[in-house]
Amino acid sequence: MAEEQTRVSELPEDVETDDCMTTYTYIYSPDLLKDHVAFITGGGSGIGFRITEVLMRHGCDAVIGSRNLDKLTQAAKKLSSATGRRCLALPMDVRQPETISTAVEEALKEFGRIDILINNAAGNFLCPATALSFNAFKTVMEIDTMGTFNTSKVVYERWFKDHGGSIVNISATLGYKGQALQVHAGSAKAANDAMTRHLAVEWGPSGVRINTLAPGPISGTEGFRRLGGMSAESSGAFQTIPLQRAGNKTEMAHGVLFLASRASSYVTGACLVADGGSWLTSANNLPALLGIAFSQSAKL
Ligand code: HXC
Ligand code: NAP
Repeated sequence: MAEEQTRVSELPEDVETDDCMTTYTYIYSPDLLKDHVAFITGGGSGIGFRITEVLMRHGCDAVIGSRNLDKLTQAAKKLSSATGRRCLALPMDVRQPETISTAVEEALKEFGRIDILINNAAGNFLCPATALSFNAFKTVMEIDTMGTFNTSKVVYERWFKDHGGSIVNISATLGYKGQALQVHAGSAKAANDAMTRHLAVEWGPSGVRINTLAPGPISGTEGFRRLGGMSAESSGAFQTIPLQRAGNKTEMAHGVLFLASRASSYVTGACLVADGGSWLTSANNLPALLGIAFSQSAKL
């Protein structure tokens, strides 16, 4: 018990909701990103919100972009007031390159530079391949894969090509074993993992590093809720994960901070799996997952 308490107390702080942490213990220098500017897609919620907070706590200003401007504006207020840095909320849809270009121009007008791009926006739901419509597969590919390419290309051509920069793509381990009910998201993320390596090769000479962080099940997120994380946790399924628990959002943000910053200055084209060892041991429990899928008539 005492040993377990010690382990838990070593975890970084987090809160389940899309709010800033009330306390934060620095692992890296608080000046690590001083006066840098980070652009985070999907930075208004979940893992993207916490990534934005942690980057801002290390001295940078931020731009958060996604479809829901009300949500983003609320998030930006919270982030600025907790960190003392500036946060600009901009509407964009990563499937529409012109909305990305407009947001990038706004960001450059406001801050004069972009140093870091985090491709975090994604869409996902549980669905067996047979029930997945053509449009459903296409939608997830367009948000996750096209969205990552579109945003990277706009930021590269407008700024990184001449100034260098660091891109971190948020992926998933779904495709490593072929997770049931996830052909859409697993395929999209696998394409992104290849994209990370392709762009690392092409853009390295311009001083651009591109890396991937692949989270496991992360509590306090929409992904966790949609993919049955709560029932997995209460049924004890996470005991099969080598680290025997879900991850928290701050742990993901720390991985991103490493990859985005000069802490990883000679790292490019790499994937950091931050899943407690989950994909190595988790069962691909098809009957149970299909039970989830078919026990409900509506979409999951
Ligand atoms: C089956 C579904 C569905 C569901 C939508 N579709 N939801 N099919 N099951 N639950 C189908 C629709 O019927 C439609 O196809 C097509 O998908 C597009 O749906 P729209 O609602 O029109 O799309 P859109 O409004 O663009 O919304 C995109 C979305 C939505 C992905 C469907 O859920 C969304 O905006 N999600 C963003 C938030 C999110 O998903 N967060 C979790 C990320 S977690 P038809 O044929 O009817 O036209 C994550 C975790 C990864 O990525 C790994 C975890 C381990
Ligand atoms: P989330 O809060 O739903 O994050 C997704 C974000 O993407 C939202 O803020 C959403 O904002 C934005 N978004 C969706 N479609 C968009 C579009 N077309 N254009 C612009 N922005 C869009 O979910 P999350 O669980 O934190 O997921 C964050 C990332 O972690 C994703 O890449 C996900 O695949 C990855 N991941 C999560 C887990 C997990 O356990 N949660 C595990 C593995 C990987 P709007 O609705 O405002 O557009």
